Formats: sequence, structure tokens, C-alpha cells
Amino acid sequence: MKFLIENIKELIQVEDNPVKYVSGHDMRNIKTIRNAFVFVKDGIIEDFGSMDSERLSELKSTTSKMDIIDSTGKMVLPTFVDSHTHLVFPASREIEYIDKIKGLSYEEIAERGGGILNSARLMQEASEEELIDSAMERLDEIISYGTGAVEIKSGYGLTLDSEIKMLRVIKQLKEKSPLTIKATFLGAHSIPMEYRGNQEKYVDMVINEMLPIVAEQNLADYIDVFCDKGFFTVKDTERILEAGVRYGIRGKIHANELDYSGGIQAGVKHGALSVDHLEFTGDDEIKALINSDTMPTVLPGAAFFLGMKYAPVREMMDAGLPIALATDFNPGSSPSGNMQLIISMASILYKMLPEEAINAATINSAYAMGVSDQLGSIAIGKKANLIITKEIPTVEYLPYYYGTNKVETVILNGHIVTVNS
Ligand code: NIG
Ligand code: FE
Repeated sequence: MKFLIENIKELIQVEDNPVKYVSGHDMRNIKTIRNAFVFVKDGIIEDFGSMDSERLSELKSTTSKMDIIDSTGKMVLPTFVDSHTHLVFPASREIEYIDKIKGLSYEEIAERGGGILNSARLMQEASEEELIDSAMERLDEIISYGTGAVEIKSGYGLTLDSEIKMLRVIKQLKEKSPLTIKATFLGAHSIPMEYRGNQEKYVDMVINEMLPIVAEQNLADYIDVFCDKGFFTVKDTERILEAGVRYGIRGKIHANELDYSGGIQAGVKHGALSVDHLEFTGDDEIKALINSDTMPTVLPGAAFFLGMKYAPVREMMDAGLPIALATDFNPGSSPSGNMQLIISMASILYKMLPEEAINAATINSAYAMGVSDQLGSIAIGKKANLIITKEIPTVEYLPYYYGTNKVETVILNGHIVTVNS
């Protein structure tokens, strides 16, 4: 199947020489082409350029039977990449939201057996079918906001059977959904009540009982640990990351959300692909990340929803680091999977320029889930996962006009999957 998107007002995030990610001050640059076209064949970007280029006339004269999509007044971007979510969950948790409004902290709710353990209790009862149906609805919703790839974590199981159930659900979502999906095993998301005071035993179980089965059944692309105050220690985290490496499963960890937990350094030391949250990032953490292959990922939705302090993103970029953005879509700390909202929060709350936020939500988040060779930019040979916006005046309008859907059409693998009115 071949089609041409033509008369594009501005084609955003094009790459002639694709890079894995962009860092520091380079994040301020986004290459665009005004009055542009994109040509797609068999789900792959075959060509792009200016409407005035000879390549376009050549293409039109040599290509038979191609569909034409006229995008006059509209922008085209690569779809967003959401590299951190927990979007398989059994039920919403708005009761805790009310507790939070009344003044309880995330840690206080967790200490009472609420939070993650609340979802874990409900997860025991949930059937795979129910979990698939509700997750598919969430996936369709995030596609309509322009997401084209998503990482999904387990971590509401916390028992062998329940963790495997979650990962099997994610495996089926990979087959059913047009999204590009990566699965992360997060057995060490919270310490079950019966292991409190004896958490090494739970870590033993994650390493010796859960991980071998996860690896044998090929259920996870990555492994995660919630390395933070009141959750897992640096020692626990290092043990789990080392075990992951033994099975060829790389880390992508929760770190430094609640304190200077040492999680960032542990992640870098064990070659994690990303360290995520990062509200508590100081000079030592920045130093550890410089010259590493680990992508610092911030999750504005969770920081906003929990009323946390914000990660020092400007200092991190000034130090030359890359930044990725993701939603953290989950029922406890970030009940939204809308990447457009995340881009607005990044600019309003973290003072990221629109170009920096778009880089962070496309090419850098693609790196953070291991797909930047196929996604995250408009480049020849990459997957045709594209957003056509509604008629909008400028690219800056995307974060500025927050709270409404600026995406009109979403194309995944070269097929139109959503058209919003
Ligand atoms: O990323 N920080 C740890 N885990 C999730 C919260 C999950 C939940 O509360 O259900 C997060 O914010
Ligand atoms: Fe998370």
C-alpha cells in the first residue's frame, strides 16, 4: 500500500541522518520542512521533502495507484512515544485521590496498604479477558491523542501467578494493538504486607522464582525496580538489575521520586536503559548520568498529580544530558495517558521549550524504550507512525493550547487508525 501526504503546512522532526537521541542544548533544535510531503510504502517512510522538490514530481510520475492525503493547513509529526506506563490495571483508585486532596501523602497511603497494594489485591481477582478489554480501551484512547508506541509494566501482581498474568496480558496486547509495545517486568514495585521487615525474601522470590519464568516464557523486554524511600533499597535494586543482566534483560527503573535514593547511580552502574521520575536529582546524580547510555526520563503527570517538587530538568539539560518525557499512566499517581498534556506540563512546569519537549516526547522517549531505530522521527526507513494535526497556526501552539486534542489523524504502520473530529 502506497500513499502520499501532501501540502503539509510544516513537517516536524525530520532527520536526514538519524541519531539515537539528542542531548543538552541540541534539544532546542527540531528540523522541520514547510510546505512538505511524506511518501509511505508498505508501512515505511519511503521519502519526504519539500512540495517544490523534483523528487516529488518524479515520485508522482513514476508511482501508480497511490492514495493522496491533502494536509493543507495541518502539521505532520512522528507519533509520540510513551516510554513509561502502568496501563494494565484492574480498577481506578479515585478514593485515594480524595485522601490525597484531604492531605495524605503518597507514602502515607502506601503505608496503610493502599496505593500499589490496593491494585495488587484487585489484580488477584481480575481475569485476563477483563484486563485485556480495559487495557485495549486505554490503548485506543492514547492512540487518539497521538501515541504510537508505549511501554507497559507489570507490578500490580506481586505474586508469581499474578505477575505472569499481567505479562501475558501485555503479550496479548502486543498482538492485538497496532501500537508498538514493549513489556517491562516490575515484580519489585512494592513490598507485599507479609514481607514487610523481611523484604530480602521478597527480592529473593523476584529473582529466583519470578524472573526465570518471565525469561523462559519471553514475557519481558525490560526489568524495573521501584528504588526509593519506603520501597526497594539500592542493594535490592542492584541484585535485581544484575539478575536481569544475567538473562539479557536490561533495566528501566523508577528512581529518586521520593528521595535521593541512590537509584540513579545504581541504574547507571548496571547499564539501565532509562532511570525515571528523578525529582530528587542533584550534582552527584547528574555526574553519574553524564557519558552514560542511560536516558533520564521525567514524568510530569505523576509530579503534578502528587504535588511533588519538579525534577531539575533545566540544570540537567544545561549539564549536557538528554531528557525523555513519558506519562507514567497509572491509577494511583498519573491517571492520564495523554502525551499532549505531558508536553504542555513540560513547558509550563519544567520550562522546557516546545522544541525540547517534542524531542523529549519523540526521539528521546523512543530511545528510552529501545525503539529509536524505528520510531521517534520522520526518517527514511522508519515506521510510518505519523500524526496529522488539526489546522493549527504554529508548532508552539501544540503545548500552548493545552487541554484539547490537536491531533486529527493517526497513522500507525502505514494505516489510518484514528480520525478525530
Ligand atoms: O510510577 N512510583 C511508583 N509506581 C507508580 C505508581 C503506581 C501506583 O500508585 O499505582 C509510579 O508513579
Ligand atoms: Fe511508574
